[in-house]
Amino acid sequence: MSSSSDLMLVTAASGKTGRACVSRLLAHGANVRALVRRQDAADELKASGVQEVVIGDLFDAEVLRIAMQGISRILHICPPMHPNEDILAAMLTQIALAQGIERLVLYSVMHPHIDVPHHRRKLKAEETLIGSGLAFTILQPCRYMQHVDAIWPQILRDSAHCMPFSVDSRFSLVHLDDLAEAAALAVMEDNHENAIYELGGREALSQSDCARIISHVLGREITAQTRPLQDFLNGARAAGMPEARINVLDIMNRHYDAHGLHGNGNILRWLLGREPISFEDHVRALALRG
Ligand SMILES: NC(=O)c1ccc[n+]([C@@H]2O[C@H](COP(=O)([O-])OP(=O)(O)OC[C@H]3O[C@@H](n4cnc5c(N)ncnc54)[C@H](OP(=O)(O)O)[C@@H]3O)[C@@H](O)[C@H]2O)c1
Repeated sequence: MSSSSDLMLVTAASGKTGRACVSRLLAHGANVRALVRRQDAADELKASGVQEVVIGDLFDAEVLRIAMQGISRILHICPPMHPNEDILAAMLTQIALAQGIERLVLYSVMHPHIDVPHHRRKLKAEETLIGSGLAFTILQPCRYMQHVDAIWPQILRDSAHCMPFSVDSRFSLVHLDDLAEAAALAVMEDNHENAIYELGGREALSQSDCARIISHVLGREITAQTRPLQDFLNGARAAGMPEARINVLDIMNRHYDAHGLHGNGNILRWLLGREPISFEDHVRALALRG
């Protein structure tokens, strides 16, 4: 276990994943320095117990040098689908080596090898890190079960679970709280050097499976439907998403339609020392919220 006086750097700390990981690191008694780009996010994180905050652009080498001063280990989370994710990882790895950082924990993705642009950029980031000589831990999380939260109001309204891929494609849906706990342990504990951990949830579920579980929890029938991909992409466009990211979403959802994204939950179970949270548990919590 790292010493409680060691300082851990978390990048993209103000995002969904960043906040969840920071919260678990603090719960384990870690000293955390958060890298964020907004003052209000810095204030919120400080109020939540974070010891230090650096405000700046994650893609700026000078900001990274400052953020890494006096740091023991890093949990690097990249903003999602960023076109320069691999370049950032290379820069971060080089600076970490130069500054004598003990270990870099890279938040990657399950199956970085598949032919989807942001997976391939994460694969490149992994390759760079593995070849660098810096001690590493690579985390490969599957799709979050929290994606259902975004469509929960429509599920209740339309009695349909509707995402833009086949109702039969399966995903090892995983709860963000479990991923955050696993990430915190991987950062804090000493026995995760040079490991690559695939982090799937405990079941590989299709939209049909999800609809069946939601029907069971709500006590009424919810059907599974494939939302037309163009309709989904037009919605993202109307919400202001840049065209380059829409293109990545398009490729990702075509892959999901054909193959899903399913792996294995054994490593997550071992890291946590308990069963991962089930999709049914998550749906019950959502149903209580209404
Ligand atoms: N969602 C999934 O199912 C899933 C599965 C596997 C892996 N992942 C990976 O998880 C990672 C995190 O995703 P997320 O959904 O948690 O992301 P998120 O909520 O969108 O958070 C991204 C954070 O990055 C910050 N950021 C963006 N550009 C920045 C910059 N130039 N300098 C400093 N900070 C910057 C944002 O700051 P602001 O708050 O200021 O905007 C935001 O807080 C991604 O790499 C994703 O690929 C996600």
